[in-house]
Amino acid sequence: MRVLVVGSNGQLGKELVEACSSHAKTISLFTADSKTLDIGDREAVETLVRDLSPDVIFNAAAMTKVDLCEDLPAAAFRVNALGVRNLVQVASKMDAKVVHFSTDYVFDGTSNVPYLEWDEPNPISVYGKSKLAGERELRPTDLCLRTSWVVGRYGNNLIKTVLRLVSQGKELRFVNDQFGSLTVAKDLAEKSLEMVFYGLGGLYHVTGQGSASWFEVVCKVVEEVAPRAVEVQSITSADLPSDRKARRPKNSVLENFALKNSGLSPLPKWEDSLVDLLREIVR
Ligand SMILES: NC(=O)c1ccc[n+]([C@@H]2O[C@H](COP(=O)([O-])OP(=O)(O)OC[C@H]3O[C@@H](n4cnc5c(N)ncnc54)[C@H](OP(=O)(O)O)[C@@H]3O)[C@@H](O)[C@H]2O)c1
Repeated sequence: MRVLVVGSNGQLGKELVEACSSHAKTISLFTADSKTLDIGDREAVETLVRDLSPDVIFNAAAMTKVDLCEDLPAAAFRVNALGVRNLVQVASKMDAKVVHFSTDYVFDGTSNVPYLEWDEPNPISVYGKSKLAGERELRPTDLCLRTSWVVGRYGNNLIKTVLRLVSQGKELRFVNDQFGSLTVAKDLAEKSLEMVFYGLGGLYHVTGQGSASWFEVVCKVVEEVAPRAVEVQSITSADLPSDRKARRPKNSVLENFALKNSGLSPLPKWEDSLVDLLREIVR
């Protein structure tokens, strides 16, 4: 299988590259980071994909800074929506499958129960709107994995921030009124590859199992790395600095209904994956 990973330098992109590399006997791997390929550039996408002729394209490229997307909506739509269109259109010509990643931010977060794949999206941010537009470019045979609260070994994420604050003895204040499911990038990358091997297509929610507030996630990190040494303060979203431009969904827990009914297992519980991740980061 010829596999191309675009956005290969992001936190998920790097994990996809590692997951594919561990299947060297079955996968010929090609990678393109943001310097090699701008997915918003239709001609560049066409040239590279034609040249490499992949069977599967993993799209880990996205404009993910949600507040920046509010300032630069055209840039957000260019990458998160048009970029997907570019990949899908050339993939159609080459008979390749696109594996795309979307977000819990396509929902408004007002539900009291976890969202199903078929619940009506209603994004409340430019980022969410642009990611929903990207989803709509996909064909039924492509794979669209909606995920949430992604953390991992690579790049910047909340876990890295917490570890830095703990090591600097800084105050930890995190919101206890925003709920979601933590997802470890390595788990997501490996599962997405397994889904390709299994021949799946369509829309799937793929997140760590269970849910928590950011405060609860941070408490778990502290319990693992600095028990009793640091106190975590619970705050509400209203206590956060008012310069945060994008609205965030309050409850964006995703029910992994389609995955649980696909014959494959869901990801591990978020706490278990978090403990494994911390063991890798804090060596
Ligand atoms: N992180 C989360 O909490 C989260 C939650 C839900 C869903 N997701 C989705 O999961 C996927 C992976 O996210 P991530 O956390 O790995 O994000 P990330 O670390 O920000 O990685 C995104 C990558 O895309 C690249 N990129 C940006 N614009 C590009 C362009 N025009 N052409 C090619 N590459 C471009 C970035 O390169 P530069 O750094 O050079 O710009 C970066 O390497 C995304 O689809 C995201 O929407 C993430």
